[in-house]
Amino acid sequence: MRHAAGYDAELRRHNELLRQAAGAQLHDHVLDIGCGTGQTSRQAARTARAGSVLGVDLSAPAVERARELARAEGLRNVTFEHADAQVHRFPPERFDLAISRFGSMFFADPVAAFANIGRALRPAGRLVMMVWQARERNEWDVAIRRSLEAAEGPVTGASGGPDPFSFADPPTVTEILRAAGFAGIAFTEVHEPVYYGPDVTAALDWVRGFTCTSEALKRLDSAAATRADERLRQALAARLGDDGVWFDSRAWIVTAHRHRADT
Ligand SMILES: C[S@@+](CC[C@H](N)C(=O)[O-])C[C@H]1O[C@@H](n2cnc3c(N)ncnc32)[C@H](O)[C@@H]1O
Repeated sequence: MRHAAGYDAELRRHNELLRQAAGAQLHDHVLDIGCGTGQTSRQAARTARAGSVLGVDLSAPAVERARELARAEGLRNVTFEHADAQVHRFPPERFDLAISRFGSMFFADPVAAFANIGRALRPAGRLVMMVWQARERNEWDVAIRRSLEAAEGPVTGASGGPDPFSFADPPTVTEILRAAGFAGIAFTEVHEPVYYGPDVTAALDWVRGFTCTSEALKRLDSAAATRADERLRQALAARLGDDGVWFDSRAWIVTAHRHRADT
């Protein structure tokens, strides 16, 4: 899978903050929602050595790769399932902790999805997830969009596809989580840059693989696509430093716990 190492590298600064916030314990049973190729699942499994980790993801190739990586590391307490976390029948009240690194903003029915996840948590089980703040607070999205728009006019983002910014607004997220049966909902700002590669060519290759970029480029004739590519290259070159190409970004770590009968 092209995106595996790249995405882990992109989020290297975010990852440690999420790991700390999640605070998995030795005996915990952990659910990783939208686990992708499973870096966060493997990380949790190394800590929850006397517990277990289940990673679930809609993408079969990602799950296959997650299994390979966990096997290669000799981890025996982590498993992966190809499943839709919104409707999958998890064992009830099984998990102490549900985590997600940018894998929980894509549900068709978020209240139903988080209610389903909540049923899989033990009473007072915790939810710790990282989600993007608003599009305009994320320099990477702004810069990519500007480059593409200059070539093709407004990039609507309305390809009808999943919206990575759908959990940007704390009051909206609070309402969703409350309706799904969570309490103690809190937001911690994460202001760390994302890494796009060691040089402009690698970064361009990475950005061309984003769904929004590849879809926009596909809509262009070849002259306009060349122009868009050149603008992207310039935008990436402007962010090249001694240690590669980095963009500013802002995310939330959202924490919550399942309602207990006595709270
Ligand atoms: C941006 S990726 C993040 C992957 C992973 N958490 C990571 O940080 O490497 C979002 C992931 O969420 C998964 N996803 C989206 N909707 C899902 C759903 N309803 N159930 C399970 N996984 C889902 C996607 O397949 C994708 O792998």
